[in-house]
Amino acid sequence: MKKAILGIAFVAILCFVGSSSRAQNAANGEKTFKAKCAACHGPDAAGKPAMKSPSIKGKTVDEIQKVISTSPKHAALKSLTADQVKEVAAYLATLK
Ligand code: HEC
Repeated sequence: MKKAILGIAFVAILCFVGSSSRAQNAANGEKTFKAKCAACHGPDAAGKPAMKSPSIKGKTVDEIQKVISTSPKHAALKSLTADQVKEVAAYLATLK
């Protein structure tokens, strides 16, 4: 519970401050990943054979933008902002 409160405070501060460091990006990206990607790509981004989804560990911003704009599997992700995609990539880079 403490963690959840800290997490909310963290996001609130980021919203007000605007800019964020690489580590903060990764922390935000983890949240976006868990909410938007983990169901198909697995909790650790290693992929899920049952969903025919590959590992996306270490995928870059460009690679993610590309699947969002071209892959029908990712149509639901068009609402992600460029910043959110950057954050997810920062998080995926920590999983290599
Ligand atoms: C509905 C299930 C689903 C969701 C949700 C999903 N993916 Fe995928 N993803 C797939 C499948 C299936 C593939 C492989 C086929 C394809 O690209 O359409 C894939 C492929 C990819 C690839 C290409 C990997 C490669 O090696 O070519 C990337 C990058 C990727 N996903 C990133 C993401 C990110 C980042 C998110 C969350 C923001 C996400 N996906 C959410 C199902 C999903």
